[in-house]
Amino acid sequence: MFLKLFLPKGNVALVEGGHILRGVIEISGGKNASLPCLAASILSAETSTIENIPFITDIGCMLDILTHIGSKVVLHESSKSVSITPNVACPVIPSELSKRMRASTLLLGSLLATYGYAKIEGYGGCPIGKRPIDLHLRAFKLLGAKITMKENFIEVSARKLKGAKINFNFPSVGATENALLASCMADGKTILTNVAIEPEVLDLVNMLKAMGADIVVDVNKRTIIVNGCRDLEGCRHRVIPDRIEVGTYAVASAITYGNIQLCKLNTCHIAEVIKKLVNMGVTIDIISCGHIRVIVEEEELRSTDIITRPYPGFPTDMQPQFTSLATKARGTSYITETIYENRFLHVPELKKMGAKISIVDQRTIAIKGPTILKGSSLHAKDIRGGMALVLAALSAQGVSYIDGVEHIWRGYENFIEKLEKVGAKVRVIDSV
Ligand code: EPU
Repeated sequence: MFLKLFLPKGNVALVEGGHILRGVIEISGGKNASLPCLAASILSAETSTIENIPFITDIGCMLDILTHIGSKVVLHESSKSVSITPNVACPVIPSELSKRMRASTLLLGSLLATYGYAKIEGYGGCPIGKRPIDLHLRAFKLLGAKITMKENFIEVSARKLKGAKINFNFPSVGATENALLASCMADGKTILTNVAIEPEVLDLVNMLKAMGADIVVDVNKRTIIVNGCRDLEGCRHRVIPDRIEVGTYAVASAITYGNIQLCKLNTCHIAEVIKKLVNMGVTIDIISCGHIRVIVEEEELRSTDIITRPYPGFPTDMQPQFTSLATKARGTSYITETIYENRFLHVPELKKMGAKISIVDQRTIAIKGPTILKGSSLHAKDIRGGMALVLAALSAQGVSYIDGVEHIWRGYENFIEKLEKVGAKVRVIDSV
């Protein structure tokens, strides 16, 4: 029901390139911050209200999952918030919902903590790599859970979870979040090391603390200590702004040689992205810590080198957008993707537009610029790669048709309206 509410009205974006974008864009609440907070809402028997929720299909899917398991979900459309009164009547997440997104796995941690059992009939996500959940399951196991994995489902169960020492061999965002959700009501102390310290993980910690959890984070040591408590309370929590949306619209301004102001953001979360834009010749005026202006005053952008890393490094979720931007920069840019094995799905599409991109090795591409891109018929295959095509199309000569827009809708609230407001000629149609 919520998913349907947020579904787009068409599946092809028609983008007329060559318009300079000017104006103000308000940043929405973070997708990847909202999803774990929604999963956390069922940890208490009391109602929690989460504010600044983006109305996108991944959130619709999470709200449908919460409803399916038995919780009462009330959406307050005007204030962009949602109230969840938890109840678990059915701790099984059916495949038609679980396979729509990877974040469905986050319910495993909170169901395990509250109900002692959860079953998920597969899980989805963008096709950008293998994306196993072995680190999540290992954390559950160390906390005392029994894991059953079959071809069509994963089951986790535990009478009572017990605090444990859990070291992650990679600082996985989802595994850190799931370990937090599972451990905050476990018996005793849990020590998590080599954790992810993405702002979205810290936002989840803040919500859990507002619910009464006892959690101490040492960001410098990548360590989190959770002292398990018996009950959690309902809370009111406002999720952080979407830092990837900020970076994406900053690239929209740069790639069209525009002048866009972005507001309602947190500049501390996007330091690495700002640094790269500035290196490429983009001017970022920091008006306040929640408000920036992105302009290109120089005649030409400069090439760049990017290596994606866990936070505070350069975010993988901005890599496709920078690939599009690099086509406009003089010289050869090198982009290395270290987080996912298969996150260059946008590259063949950009090449259709005339981009000069070559494969250096399995993880690195080289982009030669500047190139005048040409409007083309393109295929979006994932959220960020799809948005990278929209950005390229905004800067191209002529009209582009981008199908697979439903992927972009998973992560970008009202992106057509936001772009139109700053002068883009873009609309969504049913089919070409
Ligand atoms: N990994 C494993 N085993 C695990 C967990 C992760 O091998 O048990 C690997 C993954 O296969 C991947 C890498 O570790 O290659 C990173 O995965 P991580 O767990 O850190 O990411 P995630 O929790 O699955 C979240 C975001 C992603 C974002 C990554 C990295 C959500 C819902 N998703 O995914 O967002 O790319 O962190 O920052 O929070 C997006 O928004 O487009 C998106 C893909």
